[in-house]
Amino acid sequence: MKRVLSGIQPTGNLHLGNYLGAIKNFVSMQNSYECFYMLADLHAITVRVEPKDLKENILSTAAAFLASGLDEKKNIIFSQSSVRAHSELSWILNCTARVGWLNRMTQFKEKAGSNKEKASVGLYTYPILMAADILVYQATHVPVGEDQKQHLELCRDIAIKFNNDYGKDFFNIPEPIIPDISARVMSLRDGLKKMSKSDESDLSRINLTDSKEQIVQKIKKAKTDSEPINEDIFNEKSKRFEAQNLISIYADLKSESNKKILSQFEGKNFSEFKKDFTDLLIEYISPISDKIDLLRKNEDHLLKILKNGQEKASNVADKTMKDVKNIIGLSL
Ligand code: ADP
Ligand code: TRP
Repeated sequence: MKRVLSGIQPTGNLHLGNYLGAIKNFVSMQNSYECFYMLADLHAITVRVEPKDLKENILSTAAAFLASGLDEKKNIIFSQSSVRAHSELSWILNCTARVGWLNRMTQFKEKAGSNKEKASVGLYTYPILMAADILVYQATHVPVGEDQKQHLELCRDIAIKFNNDYGKDFFNIPEPIIPDISARVMSLRDGLKKMSKSDESDLSRINLTDSKEQIVQKIKKAKTDSEPINEDIFNEKSKRFEAQNLISIYADLKSESNKKILSQFEGKNFSEFKKDFTDLLIEYISPISDKIDLLRKNEDHLLKILKNGQEKASNVADKTMKDVKNIIGLSL
């Protein structure tokens, strides 16, 4: 059996990085795997969020999932907090994981920054909840962006230790699926920073909800360099990070290699490239953005899909919890 589980935090508008790094892969897997796609709302509260914003973000992210091509009939789409087993297994895995393992997590260091003492404990134990999300479904494959690779390795370590501790081959050891082309989409303003929802500048990212005018504006302002387009862009020493990023995004949207795109624009300058790039982005994003708008207006429809997902997901997750409790001696 091949089973996929993945999730995205409902923390704001999804952007092109989320789309190319994660959602596009989710969509491509829906025909050949049994897929569980989750709105990671419990992960979203590891930092302070207004309750009304959280609720809005859960619904708009669900709309973005569907608008990007996830079919609610083929996949189980649900919110993490609606399935209790995630929190329950998370505690048990807290007792399996080691403090030293968590101390190595680079995302915590990045997110907590210099103010580690004031970060929530949830932000620190975040990867353990993520392991519970995956293991509670006995997922075999987990499609994520490159920045989640370390968390996936931790999940595997936890599963292996649990199996060893209890002398049972119980948890499946999941495989990450990480897209190779443009695995990390960078900010339009700084080629060394990843495109992110949390970047203060909206000019740094293309949101899936952006209008045509916003896309035109953002690409016009996107940072490039004054050199023409040539093979040198992907030479490490050239340090043309912004140029690399734009070419990679273009190639990924076209499902072509960087080399092919470079040869197509060889010798041209970026102002010319940007015209084509803008058209391509609009062709891609506008239909998604229109659909998000439409779906978001029909809240009852979204809630029905999530409720249906909750029921199906809970059935699978509750069964795993029952087995886990048996294994560790918690079932009287
Ligand atoms: P953000 O950093 O914008 O808050 P999330 O952490 O919620 O995004 O990421 C959701 C998914 O999208 C993850 O699988 C992550 O790896 C992927 N992802 C996020 N940003 C990027 C990016 N810039 N490039 C590629 N994939 C990304
Ligand atoms: N931590 C992931 C992110 O920020 C989201 C996530 C939560 C996830 N649980 C997961 C991804 C389980 C894959 C599997 O993107």
